[in-house]
Amino acid sequence: MSETFFVTTALPYANGPFHIGHIMEYIQADIWVRFERMQGHRVHFVGADDAHGAPIMLKAEAEQQSPEQLVARIAAGRARYLEGFLIGFDHWHSTHSRENTELSQDIYRRLKAVGLIDSRPIEQFFDPVKGMFLADRYIKGECPKCHAKDQYGDACEVCGSVYAPTELIEPYSALTGAKPLLKRSEHFFFRLSDPRCVDFLEQWLGATGHVQPQVANKAREWLSGKGEQALGDWDISRDAPYFGIPIPDAPGKFFYVWLDAPIGYLAALKSYFESGKARANGETRSFETFLTAADTRQVHFIGKDIIYFHTLFWPAMLHFAGAPYRAPDNVHVHGFITVSGEKMSKSRGTGISPLRYLELGMNPEWLRYYIAAKLNANVEDLDFNPADFIARVNSDLIGKYVNIASRAASFITHHFAGALEYPGGTAELTQRARETLEQVQASYAAREFSRAMREIMAFADRVNQEFDARQPWVLAKDPAERSALQDSCARALYGFKTLTCLLAPVLPALAARVARELFGLEHPLSFADALEPPRHINPYQHLMRRVEPKQLEALLEAPPEKPVPETPAPSGATPPPASTVAADERSPPISIEEFKKIDLRVARIAAAEHVTGADKLLRLTLELGTETRTVFAGIKSAYDPATLVGRLTVMVANLAPRKMKFGLSEGMVLAASGPAGGPFLLAPDAGAEPGMRIS
Ligand code: 2FM
Ligand code: ZN
Repeated sequence: MSETFFVTTALPYANGPFHIGHIMEYIQADIWVRFERMQGHRVHFVGADDAHGAPIMLKAEAEQQSPEQLVARIAAGRARYLEGFLIGFDHWHSTHSRENTELSQDIYRRLKAVGLIDSRPIEQFFDPVKGMFLADRYIKGECPKCHAKDQYGDACEVCGSVYAPTELIEPYSALTGAKPLLKRSEHFFFRLSDPRCVDFLEQWLGATGHVQPQVANKAREWLSGKGEQALGDWDISRDAPYFGIPIPDAPGKFFYVWLDAPIGYLAALKSYFESGKARANGETRSFETFLTAADTRQVHFIGKDIIYFHTLFWPAMLHFAGAPYRAPDNVHVHGFITVSGEKMSKSRGTGISPLRYLELGMNPEWLRYYIAAKLNANVEDLDFNPADFIARVNSDLIGKYVNIASRAASFITHHFAGALEYPGGTAELTQRARETLEQVQASYAAREFSRAMREIMAFADRVNQEFDARQPWVLAKDPAERSALQDSCARALYGFKTLTCLLAPVLPALAARVARELFGLEHPLSFADALEPPRHINPYQHLMRRVEPKQLEALLEAPPEKPVPETPAPSGATPPPASTVAADERSPPISIEEFKKIDLRVARIAAAEHVTGADKLLRLTLELGTETRTVFAGIKSAYDPATLVGRLTVMVANLAPRKMKFGLSEGMVLAASGPAGGPFLLAPDAGAEPGMRIS
């Protein structure tokens, strides 16, 4: 039976760009989606930004913009990554949307109607300066066990003990430093511990196929927890100020971000249906009919850190909300990505920047293949190892796959004007291709991608071995062996066509090119093409470059240092002097309010020093009246540090501090530069004092 899939990946928080972990998950889901489409199934693949919650609200506030502006800015950057890595979501939406508000409020009302929502007062720390309740991560203090200072409200990073924030000694707000007060407030709870929920979840987790066995085991541990580990009810409300969806009939109360985030999957699907894109993708049913249809499968790809939400709350919420909602059919969990065995840490700056990968001109299909070659259906971490990456891409993709066409095609083009004949027949070749195809289909369907890649490469090995054994370069010298030459090359190219179909979910752009350019096919590749012997080829065109070790070095080295203060231009580029700026090169106009957001101050350069290892930077110590800042300035080419000490200049005092290779840069000094030279540091007229505001 042909099925229709509704596929999602975890919704990324809208407070930052994608990291390599997101890209790995999207590539995994995208490969599976492309595979299911090649199997003849219809797939709706949607994503969205997870826009709500306190961190996004506070980040927007720190950047002096509205949360909506922050979320819109982040959303605007998404396409670059998705297009860059050939990730084909059919629709991208946001949890901060009309659809999500309607669906979240509807699901909440239904859960309330069946008695699964409670409310009761709880006591929580409150920041009197900020006027808000503090989540555990915003409370710090002394660990009650080992007395380490400045530990977070839920666990001590020094001794590892876990506690309630109220147990901290001398707690303080991490936002303002204020002493937090304990304050009561009415909270709403989803009654996950209700026997109806527990019974349903036991049955849902027990049914085969909903989740991987190890995931079901983990979820069952939570479900059957005793004592302190017992499954509690889930606090689903937060008090204003909060960037979220209002709870119906409860002024000042909002849904906790984790309630509306998964509902965002449905909101994205609904928006996709309402946009007409679902119809364009062959879907004639309404959103509601689609959700309840027997042939619909709801599939979520997620990471192992969010199993709790997706295997307990989410299925229970959907199930008890009732039709058209229903629990997911599959939650597929993957592990984390590590780099050379090290866990990725954004704060330490390790890991791989997806954008840098693209900017270095590295082929996205290399990464897609590498991830496929290492992913299986278990919850295992995947290690990105540079040497392994080079070896796999160069030896498998170039050495085994591309090489077949680059060697066989030229004989066919030169000696036979592109015609492929099979004097030895094709039956046995087709049988061999069919066997491999069936194996590979089963592996893809089970998300055993590494097994699929091994099966594909074993097939490529056989094609290469057979080709080499016939020695076509020898046959080509003997006119009596024309037929043998054509046969050996045609067999190899048939193998290459089969391989192209098998690799198409992983290498969609390359496979489409091969189909069109080499085999002259007009239609999108399907698995049926894998078993159809080609009869003609067009001249071979170069298909793929090898990975160079220096590309990996560049990818993994610390991000290039950007001189902090060349100019106030946001890109860090040096614009030409004002007199030479053509009107259309000027930045778009800003309002006086926007300009006023920049806190410009007079600063005295108290010290200026060379920075070991930095070509362009000087380390400046700046006095601002009441405080001192360190700023790394890209002015080394123009200034001897000794000549700078004591002079006044102009700095941006409210620029978010930036971690650089050499230390933290806490602002930016202003300088002019252009074709005529520079940088030229700005300086105020006599009389100005350090710390004075510039307006
Ligand atoms: O962990 C995260 O990054 C969350 N933003 C994932 C949400 S998944 C779904 F529930 F929306
Ligand atoms: Zn401790």
